[in-house]
Amino acid sequence: MERGALRVCVITGASKGIGKAMLERFKREGFFTVNISRSESTGADLNVKADLSIKEQREGLIEGILQKTGRIDVLINNAGIGIYENWESIKEEELRKVFELNFFAPVDLTRQAVSFLKESKGAVINVSSVAGKLYVPYMGGYCATKYSLNAFSDSLRAELKPYSVHVLNLIVGRINTGFSSRALGSKRPPETPFTGSAEKLADLTYRAFVKRKREVVYPAWYRLFIALAKTFPNIYDTLALKSWKS
Ligand SMILES: NC(=O)c1ccc[n+]([C@@H]2O[C@H](COP(=O)([O-])OP(=O)(O)OC[C@H]3O[C@@H](n4cnc5c(N)ncnc54)[C@H](OP(=O)(O)O)[C@@H]3O)[C@@H](O)[C@H]2O)c1
Repeated sequence: MERGALRVCVITGASKGIGKAMLERFKREGFFTVNISRSESTGADLNVKADLSIKEQREGLIEGILQKTGRIDVLINNAGIGIYENWESIKEEELRKVFELNFFAPVDLTRQAVSFLKESKGAVINVSSVAGKLYVPYMGGYCATKYSLNAFSDSLRAELKPYSVHVLNLIVGRINTGFSSRALGSKRPPETPFTGSAEKLADLTYRAFVKRKREVVYPAWYRLFIALAKTFPNIYDTLALKSWKS
């Protein structure tokens, strides 16, 4: 691909779920799309295979992509995994693996991409979670990765502002992708009818990217839920714990 041709969007974990919906949305807008995951994404213009939870497999990834595409305009850090276990029983090795994928991989890839994003005046989009704004019992390990990701997004946004590189952080509630069934740990979160769609999230994300918004909360009613839980923490603790046992 010639330098300066199509705009390029790199997405981690676009082989399925939210990442795939993001890839399709950006592709529809004319982006050349690159997926990084362990299995291929059928829709991607370029697939790069890597296990992002392994530091060595992340080395040189962005440089390798740049050699093929000539530019990078958007980096979407989406690949992630859950871990549902109480703190007493959580396995340190699993917790470290989840931190590698959910936190260190976005940090690592962003650091690899930042000089190219400065050139293109591009954007970093981090796929975080409501679990990064509101702790959930038995999900503390996962929450910790997403609280960290939020801190990364917000401080990075301030640092990159002078270079016109935009940082968008996505606060995502429950989406039916099968994510929970793939989580590490022995617990499974209670079922809920209140879920959103990956396609709608991708649409909102694209529009927020164009408007250079700081944050998207989807589904939007989670804003109220987060505020209520923070206002009445003792009631929240009791109800949240109970919900896992019902
Ligand atoms: N679904 C929800 O309810 C929900 C809610 C809030 C936040 N989120 C966040 O949204 C993001 C995407 O979630 P999702 O629901 O779309 O999950 P998903 O359906 O399980 O898809 C996860 C994606 O990440 C990739 N991935 C997983 N482990 C990987 C690894 N070690 N190396 C490279 N790629 C890996 C998977 O590809 P391969 O298996 O091919 O590697 C897949 O493409 C995650 O960051 C998650 O924390 C999801």
